[in-house]
Amino acid sequence: MPLVSMRQLLDEAAKGGYGVGAFNVNDMEQIQAIMMAARQTKSPVIVQASRGARAFAEDLYLFRLIQAAAELNPDIPIAMHQDHGNSFETCKSAIELGYTSVMMDGSLREDGKTPSTFEENVEVTRRVVEYAHPRGVTVEGEIGVLGGVEDGHGAGGSGLEHVTDPDQAVAFAERTGVDALAIAIGTSHGAYKFSKKPDGSVLKMDILIAIHKRLPRTHLVMHGSSSVPKELQDIVNQYGGKLKPTWGVPIEEIQLGIRNGVRKINVDTDNRLAITGAIRKVFAETPEKFDPRDYLKPAREAMAKVVAERMTEFGQAGHAGDYKPIPISEIAKGYANGTLTTQPLVAAK
Ligand code: G3H
Ligand code: 13P
Ligand code: ZN
Repeated sequence: MPLVSMRQLLDEAAKGGYGVGAFNVNDMEQIQAIMMAARQTKSPVIVQASRGARAFAEDLYLFRLIQAAAELNPDIPIAMHQDHGNSFETCKSAIELGYTSVMMDGSLREDGKTPSTFEENVEVTRRVVEYAHPRGVTVEGEIGVLGGVEDGHGAGGSGLEHVTDPDQAVAFAERTGVDALAIAIGTSHGAYKFSKKPDGSVLKMDILIAIHKRLPRTHLVMHGSSSVPKELQDIVNQYGGKLKPTWGVPIEEIQLGIRNGVRKINVDTDNRLAITGAIRKVFAETPEKFDPRDYLKPAREAMAKVVAERMTEFGQAGHAGDYKPIPISEIAKGYANGTLTTQPLVAAK
């Protein structure tokens, strides 16, 4: 089946009251791991690539691999998404390649580090929406700034420095017409999110709930949503790794988010940990081995296990066959004629 609109995946998730994990990929084994998990759990899929991933894989290798995944798995809807686009040009190049969804992260300037102004964010995001929607491509925007830094991307900090203001979220959704909105509620990218197990008060779930009440039709996105399980940290450290003790986002908090409008949940770090732990284990236990398949196969299986767990926990499991994918050209018509409205339903304060 051809790649599917992320908007359709998220609209269906909203109807069904579940969330969809968006998993980062850089190579073939990660794509295969996601598809193994999707087949096992019968899940619709969002695959996403950062700018770093696209550069690492020379763009075309990665995109052709996604097309192979779609061809080999005709029963599974797959949306291909640009994660953290830093400029109009980055999003445009993803759309030209065939991505069915882009994130314009205008919360930061093009350097991917400096927080932007609200007006700058609105302007660049609206420009991406104006380019993407006539082509049937979904747009995710971000308002508020996440903590942490990945591959040079991110403002740093704890994640609580630029929490989203609900009034700004409403104005941003109205003025840009984004399909999905990433909000900052205290999460950060990477493994080091919290220095102790976070209780319910650490993440600003009240802000998320307030935003969903006022923007009930805008799909909310949680970035930095790895749970950084102790078991995965332990495997890495048991076999020579040096991770410091750390805590991620508890699954229960993500599930609370899903009950309150979160439809896309970004996970990368948990898969990185699973892969690294599995490879380290092979290296430590069988140092005589040197065929990459001897360690890439267990690495792929370890990632597939994590992804299948998340698909079940987020509720997308079992939903792959619920709906017929709408061709991207029809999605474009839907934006043009207002069936797929870009104007959010704004509920009263
Ligand atoms: O946004 C964060 C994702 O984990 C991607 O990370 O930019 O290092 O590929 P990356
Ligand atoms: P994690 O680092 O928590 O996996 O977050 C990934 C992410 O938000 C990608 O955009
Ligand atoms: Zn992110």
